[in-house]
Amino acid sequence: SRERLRAVRDRVRSFPDFPVPGVLFRDISPLLKDPVAFKALIDLLEDHLRASFPKVDVIAGLDSRGFLIGPPLAQRLGVGFVLIRKKGKLPGPTESISYALEYGKAELEIQSDAVEAGQKVVVVDDLLATGGTMCAACKLLARLKADILECLVVIELKGLRGAAKLEAIPFHSLLQYD
Ligand code: PRP
Ligand code: MG
Repeated sequence: SRERLRAVRDRVRSFPDFPVPGVLFRDISPLLKDPVAFKALIDLLEDHLRASFPKVDVIAGLDSRGFLIGPPLAQRLGVGFVLIRKKGKLPGPTESISYALEYGKAELEIQSDAVEAGQKVVVVDDLLATGGTMCAACKLLARLKADILECLVVIELKGLRGAAKLEAIPFHSLLQYD
């Protein structure tokens, strides 16, 4: 497990001043490109969820980098995957919510039939920064009366205190950066 975590950590690259000056971008491209490291990542996430929750009904992933991690993880657990998308991409009845970004604002959307009331959902994304995106996703799931077991990310940028924004919702990250 230590080695798997190191394999994952070694394949996250950092780019200063992207996409704007002052931001240190954590890039998971090398992790996705290396099948051994990517398998180690999904193994670690699977082990964490199996150890933490006896039953998960659905994995929800956040547009777009959460879509890279959610489906393989859902397959491992033998559960379905649902999309929480940037606004305007999903047909049929939807719920939407606007949220603040580090610069500007955006909107997230979910199909109204994506989860049933009471279903046990784990929300996954690549990274938690300010927590605004994850918090908005949780509000959408709460409108559908989902039972949110946990918010799960690969990378947590601790300095931005995003986990605090999630308040009482359980949160877990594999890798932490200051
Ligand atoms: C990034 C990242 C998270 C979010 C974290 O996504 O993938 O989803 O920002 O930021 P926050 O905690 O401050 O809300 P981004 O909106 O850049 O879009 P992408 O996933 O489509 O690249
Ligand atoms: Mg994202």
